[in-house]
Amino acid sequence: MEKETFYISTPIYYPSDKLHIGHTYCTVAADTMARYKRMRGYDVMFLTGTDEHGMKIEEKAKAAGVSPKQFVDDIICGDGGILDLWKLMNISYDRFIRTTDDYHEESIQYIFRTLYEKGDIYKGIYKGLYCTPCESFWTESQLSDGKCPDCGREVKYAEEEAYFFRQSKYADRIKELISGYLDPQSRVNEMMNNFLLPGLEDICVSRTTFSWGVPVDFDPGHVVYVWVDALSNYITALGYGNGKYNDFDKYWPCDVHFVGKEIVRLHSILWIAMLMALDLPLPKRVYGHGWLLFDGDKMSKSKGNVKDPVILAERYGVDALRFFLLREFTFGSDGNFTNELLISRINADLANDLGNLVSRTVAMVDKYFDGALPPDRLAGSEDDDIIGVASSLFGAYESHMERFAFQQALAEVFKVTSRANKYIDETAPWALAKDESNRSRLATVLYNLLETIRICVVLLRPFMPDSCAEIFKQIGAQGELTEFESVRSFGALPECCSVMKGDIVFPRLDLAKELEALAKGEG
Ligand code: MSP
Repeated sequence: MEKETFYISTPIYYPSDKLHIGHTYCTVAADTMARYKRMRGYDVMFLTGTDEHGMKIEEKAKAAGVSPKQFVDDIICGDGGILDLWKLMNISYDRFIRTTDDYHEESIQYIFRTLYEKGDIYKGIYKGLYCTPCESFWTESQLSDGKCPDCGREVKYAEEEAYFFRQSKYADRIKELISGYLDPQSRVNEMMNNFLLPGLEDICVSRTTFSWGVPVDFDPGHVVYVWVDALSNYITALGYGNGKYNDFDKYWPCDVHFVGKEIVRLHSILWIAMLMALDLPLPKRVYGHGWLLFDGDKMSKSKGNVKDPVILAERYGVDALRFFLLREFTFGSDGNFTNELLISRINADLANDLGNLVSRTVAMVDKYFDGALPPDRLAGSEDDDIIGVASSLFGAYESHMERFAFQQALAEVFKVTSRANKYIDETAPWALAKDESNRSRLATVLYNLLETIRICVVLLRPFMPDSCAEIFKQIGAQGELTEFESVRSFGALPECCSVMKGDIVFPRLDLAKELEALAKGEG
């Protein structure tokens, strides 16, 4: 039987600078979802990439004295560039699209021409207020305090002959459908009140003031507006309008586009109108996640609050960082990032709760049974509760994961690791070990602990793939015992399982020392 497909995308990032932890946040979330769906048996297409055209990049390249292509190549493929960052962060994308790829450019020209021939793109004169950093034209009513509503910077009057996309034609259908594809619902209200109810205008979709873009093939001198170019990546990467790939029919419509809140408008209105104009199915979901804030601000170089994911991953481990991002913050809302939260979370959940549970349990199996449990069993009154919570964990986890509620899914898992630590105190294996006649009871307690650990760690796999592999090694679980199917009920671990003592997976951190080191920029 053919596997069901799951198509997930991140935004394609601007290669205008090094990426920071905000970009890493969304990519780690998408990676975790992709891994989760693969483990659930889906044929996954996980797409990410880079959005390389536009005036901002052209200007930066000029300032750096290199061609725009050379400039973006360095940021993407150079040492410590975007590809290296995703490798470090263990991002398992299936496809990486660059908007400078030939096949993508060919598709953009095809899309632009098709919409022009259909009459949904037409030629006119643009007069308006333009925000250069955002590459967006705004109407007076859209400005906030006279400034760009997206970034808060100055806009300036601009006039040019240009092509327009008949976005207004699709306004009614978008209004009708938006609550069906956009999440969380608060974003729907935002779009309705700020853009759809005041009325959608046609949008300018070509530029003549610079040349770093995809040329309009039937009107030289015009390049395609960078957002039309960028949004189309989600279909060109599957082969729409080009011969490079051939899996558009297989994966489209997309299951979910993960996007930051400031680009929800472009994904839930412009992109949807473009798809309607092309007579293509709409994405099943657009999910607008929140920002990581630093002292209440979005990260920015000028404010000096940019967090480098490489420094944090190298100091604390890739998995600890991945985990922290999804455990600490609610995906749909903004969250305030501090070093203290990072260290405290690693200590509380990974070192104390999970790490301790694993090392204590493995050490006891090693000490009391030479590393391998005997088959004799004796149930006790303490067992029912832990077996109950571990057996029902998958159901709770799954319902959160399906809603992209990573934080809640993880909270469920950590409730069970805490419960298991408490079970150790309740059963006091060290006391049981003193009396030979308690051996079957002791074996039962340790088995229940190993099995509970295994269930938790299977569910943590999409979040922390490498650390989970290490824990599986220590508790002697492999193959099917590391898959979701094996955690729907308690007891898949063989009776006579054996453990292998290993290194501490998540060492405890000294909060004061770490804060000092990070403040000094030691990383
Ligand atoms: N190139 C466009 C996207 C085109 S998609 C067809 C773009 N690029 S970006 O590099 O500026 O931003 C990409 C994503 O990173 C956005 O979704 C944005 O919200 C996200 N983030 C940038 N800083 C962020 C935080 N501080 N926190 C969370 N996400 C943030 O926009």
